[in-house]
Amino acid sequence: MVTDDSSQPDEVEDGGLSRRAFLRFLLAVSTLLTLAPFAPMSQFFFPKRNESSSNRRKIANVKEVAEGSTKVFFYPGEEDVDRSFLVHLPHELADRARDEGKDEFIVDGFVALNTVCTHLQCVTGFPEEDQIVCPCHGGYFSLVDGTVIDGPPPRPLPMIKLEIEQKTGDIYAVELIGKIGYGRE
Ligand code: FES
Repeated sequence: MVTDDSSQPDEVEDGGLSRRAFLRFLLAVSTLLTLAPFAPMSQFFFPKRNESSSNRRKIANVKEVAEGSTKVFFYPGEEDVDRSFLVHLPHELADRARDEGKDEFIVDGFVALNTVCTHLQCVTGFPEEDQIVCPCHGGYFSLVDGTVIDGPPPRPLPMIKLEIEQKTGDIYAVELIGKIGYGRE
């Protein structure tokens, strides 16, 4: 005689998991295992948005960063989204910024910016002349103050306030201005 298993109730079993509950459990576990490797990617596409924060920390010495060069550092934390540029501006560019009243964040020719684009949070490229370019959709930011020059980014890059000890030449990051991934108003 042929028995039709499909007619058996699957929610009622003696003291244990029903078949349906067990299958749901298996599905949940396999979904978690499938998605787990992608968790770090979410940090890239949806980075945290730090509030403006102050936290004085030495990031370099003036002797380490020659005029026209850039040093990568992390601030205010140590995560990928905290990646920032310390740039020793060519003196012509620093002079021009001063003449145009765009030197709010420049200290002794140095400026520092966070590198997470304010459009869809790609990481920007290294400085090119007086600009920083986001390769994802062609966003252009001013190197001297992070303002948007062209492309889809809606807001300027977060800037990092600097202090330089004249005796030692040590450069300190002291405050993040803006929110990472979101920029400045
Ligand atoms: S993510 Fe930078 S321009 Fe789109």
